[in-house]
Amino acid sequence: MLRRYQTYLIFAVLSVVFLFTIFQNVAWRRLPQVVGLGEHYDGASEEEKMHDVPDVKPGHKHEDLPSLQEDKSTFKEPKVESDSPYPIGELKPAGSNYTKCLVVSRQRSEDSTWIQDELRDMLDDGILTKAEYVVDDHSAPLHPIKNKGHESNVYLTYIIDHYDQLSDLTIFIHFHRFSWHNNILMDEDAAQMVRHLSPERVTRDGYMNLRCHWEPGCPSWLHPGATQRNYDKMEETLVADAWAELFPLDPIPAVLAQPCCAQFAVSRDRIRALPKQRYVSMRDWILRTELSDYMSGRVFEYIWQYIFTASPIHCPSMSACYCDGYGYCFGSPQAFDKWFELRYEVKEYAAELALWREQADLIERARNGDGTFDEEAVLDVPQIGRDAWLRAEMEDLEATMLELKHEAFERGRKPELRALEVGRMWKDGDGF
Ligand SMILES: *[C@@H]1O[C@H](CO)[C@@H](O)[C@H](O)[C@H]1NC(C)=O
Repeated sequence: MLRRYQTYLIFAVLSVVFLFTIFQNVAWRRLPQVVGLGEHYDGASEEEKMHDVPDVKPGHKHEDLPSLQEDKSTFKEPKVESDSPYPIGELKPAGSNYTKCLVVSRQRSEDSTWIQDELRDMLDDGILTKAEYVVDDHSAPLHPIKNKGHESNVYLTYIIDHYDQLSDLTIFIHFHRFSWHNNILMDEDAAQMVRHLSPERVTRDGYMNLRCHWEPGCPSWLHPGATQRNYDKMEETLVADAWAELFPLDPIPAVLAQPCCAQFAVSRDRIRALPKQRYVSMRDWILRTELSDYMSGRVFEYIWQYIFTASPIHCPSMSACYCDGYGYCFGSPQAFDKWFELRYEVKEYAAELALWREQADLIERARNGDGTFDEEAVLDVPQIGRDAWLRAEMEDLEATMLELKHEAFERGRKPELRALEVGRMWKDGDGF
């Protein structure tokens, strides 16, 4: 009896230990994975650093349905900024104009006429000029030496050829006007982004990623030392090699991060902080590399911030980017987050409404004796009136969002409120 009792006891203890281990493991997995690098970086072992990958989907595609994962990252309190050793750029007197050049990369078949149509007034005033490169057309006034490396080649070619005659700001963008990777508050519209871009912020910081949203790209995207292939980031393992060739004197950083998609603005001074020869050698790398254009493009997507800020991580606070960068000032990061929470609610309702319609449609077809759906009883019957309620709710939310957005824009017209919101010193007579 005693022996059996002992066996039971040992078994019970082992079971508890086993279950506890599993539970701990599971609980550990549930911890938020996306942690500000500032907190995480030094203490973490190499192993942990490797795994400190934001738990998110690839992102390089349009988000059609709401994904909690994606939107959650929008709400995160920004912790990681930039570590740039460059001094703050010097502004012109308040109210001065800044000249801007829009550098655009496109193929012959791609249409960029929105630039003339939407930014006509800026072009006519001479405030804005445009350098449009057609990568696959040698008869175009501007084209790269070779159609290789997509926009990276174009951006570098522009800098090399205009190094001595740069505008105050150079804005590097893709040809399309609307894209998921443009800023949501500006209706994902590149024209609005160019129009509202603050030349003062770009001049102060030297470099500004035009995308304010961290996802995808921040707070820690590429881990150049990674040995395991990540199929969402095939370029990760290639970056270390590329890095050694592109920056032979600089140690490989543990992490490279900035918001995605290679659209940014740079001040004249910042471009000239590097000698022209550096840009020439980077372009040579693009022309020489055996990587596909897709891969070399992805490599550059996560090193532009390093080229122009000398910091491997460039993840400014989203609300500061919107407020100081474009004049959408919600008053606080919390109020900014609130707007995106409302937007998330709308998306949830929209998804529910789509499902409601799908179910109503199934029922309808079943009632009409339409073939396969003869078992009406097993179908989910949508709640009557739920669709109207959802639509009304969405309309209300959208009206609120519009109002909040207008208020934010009004707030952003006042330079002192912009400074206040992003925690920058401001005194009477300072401009934006
Ligand atoms: C800025 O440019 C606009 C448009 O050309 C012009 O009307 C305005 O006077 C300029 N402002 C200054 C301070 O030069």
